[in-house]
Amino acid sequence: MRIDNKLGARLQELGVELRPSVPLSEKTSLGIGGTTDQLLLRKFETIPDVMHLLADENIPHRFLGGGTNVLISDGELPYVVLHLPTSQPGMRVEGNAAYVDAAADLGGMVTFCAKRDLGGMEGLIGVPGSVGGALRMNAGAYGTQIGSYVREVELYRASTGKLETLRGDDIRFDYRHTSFAPDDVMLRVKLELPSKPYKEILAGIKICNEKRRASQPLNQKSAGCIFKNPQGGSAGRMIDELGLKGHRVGDAMVSDRHANFFVNVANASCADMLRLIDEVRERVRVTYGIELENEVIFWKN
Ligand code: EPU
Repeated sequence: MRIDNKLGARLQELGVELRPSVPLSEKTSLGIGGTTDQLLLRKFETIPDVMHLLADENIPHRFLGGGTNVLISDGELPYVVLHLPTSQPGMRVEGNAAYVDAAADLGGMVTFCAKRDLGGMEGLIGVPGSVGGALRMNAGAYGTQIGSYVREVELYRASTGKLETLRGDDIRFDYRHTSFAPDDVMLRVKLELPSKPYKEILAGIKICNEKRRASQPLNQKSAGCIFKNPQGGSAGRMIDELGLKGHRVGDAMVSDRHANFFVNVANASCADMLRLIDEVRERVRVTYGIELENEVIFWKN
């Protein structure tokens, strides 16, 4: 989707930087995604005005964070993508509270807090993506989920058109699911973290990193786990038992290291990846009678 010069100029007045015709394959960890105009929002305060302007001009839009858990269609996309400022996102610590911008890198936040003797989030260290994306999905690994530490979230609420602050108890955090509305935009979070000496936190981080390196294809293009685990089961184990490691559709392949990671081995299209997801889901359904639910978020046109 293209923003015309007139609208581009008005957006610029609101401090928005317009980057025309950006291939989103360069913005996602899967290396998949079509092309569209990208808008970089420099100031939180102007978000409501920017959103009103886009609504007035009938410009569909989506927010893209770290791009690590999303599968985007091929070709020219019928919406523009919005980004929050990612250069030097704010992070500060006061006692046991950490205040972090949603655009911050999740691993960067864990390390920043660790250096200030605040722990608890060791398991999240290797989870790629932004703090905002982690909040939305309630990212978790090795027994840790970010939601456990959230006390406040500042967000732009599309349904009211306003910036709002939600308290932790007003938000539901479940397994890879939260009560945020799909069009809420995470801006900032306050976490409350347990005190722990940096050395101890580092030791925990090292163990998680080793486990991850041993079991996940970290050097390949992926979106992490494709499916949520069914209650009491493991999607990866079932797909592995079906002998589907290495199974391919075009350049989309079930990882031969972890069967719930689907990797882009060269130039996979979204269509390839979707077919692979459907084929594997169907095989699991037929054999185990379980309908796997996507963990990766598919941006349908
Ligand atoms: N397994 C296999 N074959 C495989 C993969 C796994 O037999 O190819 C077996 C393992 O041996 C283990 C069991 O399945 O007995 C579970 O595997 P693993 O410990 O790797 O955990 P997982 O349930 O597959 C979950 C999260 C990961 C997170 C790890 C570590 C989901 C969908 N996945 O994976 O999160 O990193 O635990 O805590 O909840 C993600 O969310 O994108 C993600 C990668």
